Amino acid sequence: MSQIDWGQGTYESTAKDLAPAARELVAAAQLQPGERVVDVGAGTGNAALLAADLGAQVTAVEPAARLREVIQAAAGDRDITAVDGTAAAIPLPDASADVLLSNFAVIFAPDPQAAAAEFARVATPAGRVLLTSWLPGGVDEVVGILARTMREITGSGEAMEGRIDWHDPKALSELFGPFGFEVSSTVHDLTFRAASAEEYWTTRIAQHPLGVATFPLLEKAGRLDEVRALALEKIATKWTRPDGAVELPARYLLAVATRRGTTARS
Ligand SMILES: C[S@@+](CC[C@H](N)C(=O)[O-])C[C@H]1O[C@@H](n2cnc3c(N)ncnc32)[C@H](O)[C@@H]1O
Repeated sequence: MSQIDWGQGTYESTAKDLAPAARELVAAAQLQPGERVVDVGAGTGNAALLAADLGAQVTAVEPAARLREVIQAAAGDRDITAVDGTAAAIPLPDASADVLLSNFAVIFAPDPQAAAAEFARVATPAGRVLLTSWLPGGVDEVVGILARTMREITGSGEAMEGRIDWHDPKALSELFGPFGFEVSSTVHDLTFRAASAEEYWTTRIAQHPLGVATFPLLEKAGRLDEVRALALEKIATKWTRPDGAVELPARYLLAVATRRGTTARS
């Protein structure tokens, strides 16, 4: 699912949900004006825009062409350059970024070790890396129904090969430690809101790029109705208020990796 085009469908509604996490991420970076910031997997530019507003020079790395256009249009006269790339292929020179940010994006990298090596290459010797990753439960349970069924259809655990638990501080220390980083982390909460379970399904699942990419396969396998029913039942029983509105909790890890021997800013 990492090869999907995040420009298809309507990622914008999820981007709004993730904006509070981007604010936490950028605040934790304690940016100084003029710092060179790279937002990896920038989406519509949640973190990139905030960083630029604080006076940073921002490169927004985003593999989806449509989303790069969205970022560049939203940037206006801010110092933001949207470029094509991935976490494992950042089109910037060695030691050219003071800060790398990744709001729920590097977690989709098919090769986490290659991504960590690339972050370490692009970061200056005192550079820092900040990322967010979902913790199990809440929204992750709903997406999990879809992901599990997809694995059953494709008949393998291939999607998970080489993956790490990005929400596990120990896994992050093992990933970034060999590159001289120390990792600290904090846990945060978000709430995804919708007028109804149906609206949540349509706007956050069916029209989400992952939904657009997987629904035809689920439908072909005759499993789409089942997945939809299971997800709606879970949302209805666990996270729907008496008036029908949905408040779906999501918990995430915010990790800060600083080079050993440099001053941690957070
Ligand atoms: C959940 S969205 C997060 C977007 C954005 N950071 C935000 O705050 O809304 C995941 C993003 O990661 C990007 N992405 C997917 N695979 C990637 C990879 N291997 N390297 C970098 N970005 C990737 C997608 O194109 C998408 O924009």
